[in-house]
Amino acid sequence: MKKVVVTRRIFPEVVEALRACVDVDHNEDDHLWPANEFARRIAGAHGVLTTIMDRVDEALLAGAANLKVVSNIAVGTNNIDIAACTRRGIRVTNTPGVLNDTTADLTWALLMAAARRIAEGDAFVRRGDWKVGFTMQSPLGTDVHHATVGIIGMGRIGQAIARRARGFDMRIVYNNRNRLPPGDEERLGASWMDMHELLATADFVVVMVPYSPAVHHLIGAAEIARMKPTAILVNTARGGVVDDAALVEALRAKRIAGAGLDVFEGEPRLNAGFLDLPNAVLTPHIGSATRATRLAMCEMAVANVLAVLEGRAPPNPVNPQAA
Ligand code: GLV
Repeated sequence: MKKVVVTRRIFPEVVEALRACVDVDHNEDDHLWPANEFARRIAGAHGVLTTIMDRVDEALLAGAANLKVVSNIAVGTNNIDIAACTRRGIRVTNTPGVLNDTTADLTWALLMAAARRIAEGDAFVRRGDWKVGFTMQSPLGTDVHHATVGIIGMGRIGQAIARRARGFDMRIVYNNRNRLPPGDEERLGASWMDMHELLATADFVVVMVPYSPAVHHLIGAAEIARMKPTAILVNTARGGVVDDAALVEALRAKRIAGAGLDVFEGEPRLNAGFLDLPNAVLTPHIGSATRATRLAMCEMAVANVLAVLEGRAPPNPVNPQAA
């Protein structure tokens, strides 16, 4: 029987479905395996269900002679050396589409929380500091409605973010590697804008590009310096797309008004500077974290792994050339 490793705890019903077809080594403890343990577990396995915390590189693959498929339970695949997998004929798959709306919702939650200082207000109430009831000068936020949102990365999730902006009567500008066809721009009510102009124009800059070395620190000190002092930056894409040290510095100096962040460089060991900043709202990489969406992602990942192991084309191939 073929063997599939599941590197983290996932939903029992999904593991059961997998067990009906293959031998399963499921990490029910859910602790992140160090590289040597991951290598030990994967030696002899035919497939693996990974999360973005699992590094799949040459060294790991060298000890996994039977491996045929790496099925990432994520849309992003920057934890995987895809070229190395392709060279070895190992299929890589991901879980696109099913998390678009959920991740767009979280992006909006962070945008609005930063704009209206929700986390600060919550902490203020809990500390018992709310003594005088309604005050005219109580923490004043930023209007979301009728403001301009600048979306950097107008793929499927970027477009889901844009659709939500229409409900707030916002002006929507975007920058993307490729400009969208005019019909799509019209449908979304979004206009393409040069990156420099977008940074200087937007009241809310939302980053939604997949990580690759080419976009490392796409938003750094120079880009932040172009933003309005009243602007808010939201990153729900990947740690590393934003230069976190530069962002901490800018938030500290109030060069921009705030940030909503779900992803960090080196997470979970994020830049400690964020922790003292009341103008940053921080969440622990929960963009796709609803039960329905995470379940759907796990089911997709299982469908992908089984397809490859049963000799069929996987529904969500990342490196079809490895076939
Ligand atoms: C989560 O970050 C994902 O890439 O799905």
